[in-house]
Amino acid sequence: MKKYKVAVVGATGAVGQEMLKMLESRNFPVESLRLLASERSSGKKMVFKGKEIPVEVLSAETAKGHEIALFSAGAAISKEYAPVFAKNNCFVIDNSSAWRMEPDIPLVVPEVNSSALSKDKKIIANPNCSTIQMVVVLKPLHDISKIKRVVVATYQAVSGAGGRAMEELNAEAVAWAKNEPMPKPAKFPYQIAFNLIPQIDIFLENSYTKEEIKMVNETKKIMGDDSIRVSATCVRVPVFRAHSEAVWIETENKISPEKAREALLKAKGVKVQDDPSNKIYPMPLDAANQQVTFVGRIREDISTDNGLAFWVVSDNLLKGAALNAVEIAEALIERKII
Ligand code: A2P
Repeated sequence: MKKYKVAVVGATGAVGQEMLKMLESRNFPVESLRLLASERSSGKKMVFKGKEIPVEVLSAETAKGHEIALFSAGAAISKEYAPVFAKNNCFVIDNSSAWRMEPDIPLVVPEVNSSALSKDKKIIANPNCSTIQMVVVLKPLHDISKIKRVVVATYQAVSGAGGRAMEELNAEAVAWAKNEPMPKPAKFPYQIAFNLIPQIDIFLENSYTKEEIKMVNETKKIMGDDSIRVSATCVRVPVFRAHSEAVWIETENKISPEKAREALLKAKGVKVQDDPSNKIYPMPLDAANQQVTFVGRIREDISTDNGLAFWVVSDNLLKGAALNAVEIAEALIERKII
């Protein structure tokens, strides 16, 4: 089997570290691996398959010689460097929001739309974490009967805001336990420990946040259906890993909960955990570090005719980011694009 020259840009970050773990645990065919980050990380070493690899500084020079690059260093770095890597004949799988809504850039969740990948599209966008876990559950239902409307409330873990955000929750929880003064919030606008913050990213003119509108636009693009109407409320919660979502959908024809469960049991990347009488349902503590999206609490939405309600949980750093990125790379190989 052919092996590939791989780079991870933002390797030291919360998602970058998971990208390394996914490449290793999924036994991705790596010929060589270069780890790139900012000058702050110069001199650091990271371990891949038992070997220490130095972290190098991202530059026009270190952007050369790769076949696949996984980017997770923020939108500004992606805007600047993804085209440089692509010009050097490298496929870039970008975890930031920089390219997602560009019409010519595929926005891919392999279970849903790997057909969007092609040889001439060197930059590929990895969707927003909350959108990815939602669409892997929506697609098998949409295939039974067209989804007309989605209403979703998210409960998003702090790791979605990066490594420093996890440290912030940890520091606040420790301060609370020791009865010490709360540290001043830096990553979040307010204390996140023992709190909920109904704001992720900035507010837009229509009073939705940018994160909420990402869910609206990205769902339409990935599902290839502009007519699906989506309304989201995105909330940051004091959970380290795994986002949870309460989802309500309306379909053209009625889908019974039994039929939905049956379809989801067969769906790739999805695990049904739905046995309420035995208190079995997805929870973030169980979903953390797992490479699937969990769905449970599947029931009829009694407030409308053709409605279903369910609860979706997945590790935001894995299926929501690093795992989906590596699965896109795997799809490039499977589809003989690279
Ligand atoms: P570094 O650790 O050297 O700052 P997170 O999302 O967890 O905050 O991580 C962000 C990732 O993006 C880190 O790996 C970080 O590297 C990297 N990064 C941030 N700024 C730059 C930059 N100017 N050039 C390259 N990598 C960067």
